[in-house]
Amino acid sequence: MLMRKILDREDPILRQKAVPVPLADIAGHNVQTIIREMIDAMSLQKDGVAIAAPQIGVSSQIFVVSGSLLKQADASYKGEPTELVFINPEIIKMSKEKKSVEEGCLSVRWFYGKVRRSVRVTLRAYNEKGQRIERGASGLLAQIFQHEVDHLNGILFTDKAKEVWQMTTEEIEELQRK
Ligand code: NI
Repeated sequence: MLMRKILDREDPILRQKAVPVPLADIAGHNVQTIIREMIDAMSLQKDGVAIAAPQIGVSSQIFVVSGSLLKQADASYKGEPTELVFINPEIIKMSKEKKSVEEGCLSVRWFYGKVRRSVRVTLRAYNEKGQRIERGASGLLAQIFQHEVDHLNGILFTDKAKEVWQMTTEEIEELQRK
């Protein structure tokens, strides 16, 4: 099995606008393989709650959320503990109410920052079966939707963060132990 590396923030692919996936291609081998590789790369990271395709070097509009890590991190999440796949996502509603939340990224090791995000958003996308879906979210999932759609537009959280700090070696070790 080919294991895709997660790209570091210096990589120019992370700064490109990702290309929409033609709907007829979603069921095809290529797209399904990309989704599988995204899930594999994400699941090797203990804190990998979501990943966007450009992070594994594929400039396509796809992101994946780990439902099981999301459930662990946010008790208010009542959805399935499986991987959630979003293709050609579009945020169609965002609350005016915003909150400053802590954020990190698998491509920006090991920095964290505070980013202002809408507390509620509605996302329209296609799932891995090519079905059109619309999903409202609050809490961590709303934050993830905004972070991942930013990735697909070439934006990293550090572009928006007001405060950015680096995790200490102890904090990183603690995270790896979980
Ligand atoms: Ni990220």
